[in-house]
Amino acid sequence: TPRVFSGIQPSGGLTLGNYLGAMKRFVDMQDEGSFQTVYCMVDLHAITAKFQDPATLRHNTRELAAGFIAAGIDPAKSILINQSQVPEHAQLAWIFNCVARMGWMGRMTQWKDKAGKNAEAASLGLFAYPALMAADILIYHATHVPVGEDQKQHLELTRDIATKFNHDYGVDFFPLTEPVIEGAATRVMSLRDGSKKMSKSDPSDASRINLTDDADAIAKKIRKAKTDPDALPSEVEGLKDRPEARNLVNIYAALNDQTVEQVLADVGGQQFGSFKPLLAELAVAKMSPISTRMAELMADTAEIDRILAHGATQAREITAPILKKTYEIVGMVG
Ligand code: TYM
Repeated sequence: TPRVFSGIQPSGGLTLGNYLGAMKRFVDMQDEGSFQTVYCMVDLHAITAKFQDPATLRHNTRELAAGFIAAGIDPAKSILINQSQVPEHAQLAWIFNCVARMGWMGRMTQWKDKAGKNAEAASLGLFAYPALMAADILIYHATHVPVGEDQKQHLELTRDIATKFNHDYGVDFFPLTEPVIEGAATRVMSLRDGSKKMSKSDPSDASRINLTDDADAIAKKIRKAKTDPDALPSEVEGLKDRPEARNLVNIYAALNDQTVEQVLADVGGQQFGSFKPLLAELAVAKMSPISTRMAELMADTAEIDRILAHGATQAREITAPILKKTYEIVGMVG
């Protein structure tokens, strides 16, 4: 069976963007039944950008695990792991650090955005981030990776690394991974500015829906979301140059498992005054059970730790032989 891998950083503050662009898709692929699914909290990635307080990182990792489970990841169907508990990720990343080229890494837009003008002060880990990400995927020989639009470039680099490794060593060992960027919400935008991505790092809390928001907060943020004065169109072309309107319709479609066309066939012609309450109701119905369930799960972190320990054992049955074979190919005595 083809294998799916994806990961999310436990850097605190999951948003509706993470949920619709990633988690919900993870659940779909898990339940679809034609893949073996492996989902990961990437704690080693979370320390690349800025210093993380250790207690906070531990809390955020467990909270993300609770988020995965609350969103519908079933540890009996998917392998649910924390990256650092499966050491082969970091071990393969070292090999990939020696395959990937400085120039490739320097062209990554996320590196440029995050390092900003002061690349000298950025961590070496932030620069090497995409090689660890490639290792996350390829240590499972995963072929399908569900992600939001912003990860596309990293997945192209993953293919470049696999290709160069295979070529340099004259093997056909690592598969070429397909990004799975599908559905109506591959890029959820800020509720305050339709030209910016919804992000946990936006200073305005009103710009995003957090996975931990309660029903009141969700409804209020949607009521206050920026819109334009026109009615909703009945065709997709009518959303052109209307980024805020497009974003709210995309969110509605993704939450309701519909296409944008289907949503517009129903709501085309309505004003935001009547569409927003519909969206708020839908968002509360779909999202608030997740925050409630997350809070319940966080009451027993020992259970979360047991799930992650079990996931790591299952994962290592896959990763240990692939690392061993990689070392053999590279020429390590073992
Ligand atoms: P991260 O933690 O930034 O985001 C996790 C996932 O959420 C998606 N996402 C969004 N999708 C739609 N709209 C948004 N506004 C939005 N914001 C975030 C991201 O595209 C991502 O799918 N490098 C990765 C983590 C990672 C990974 C991997 C992913 C590490 N190793 C291996 C896949 C495979 C990251 O920082 O995601």
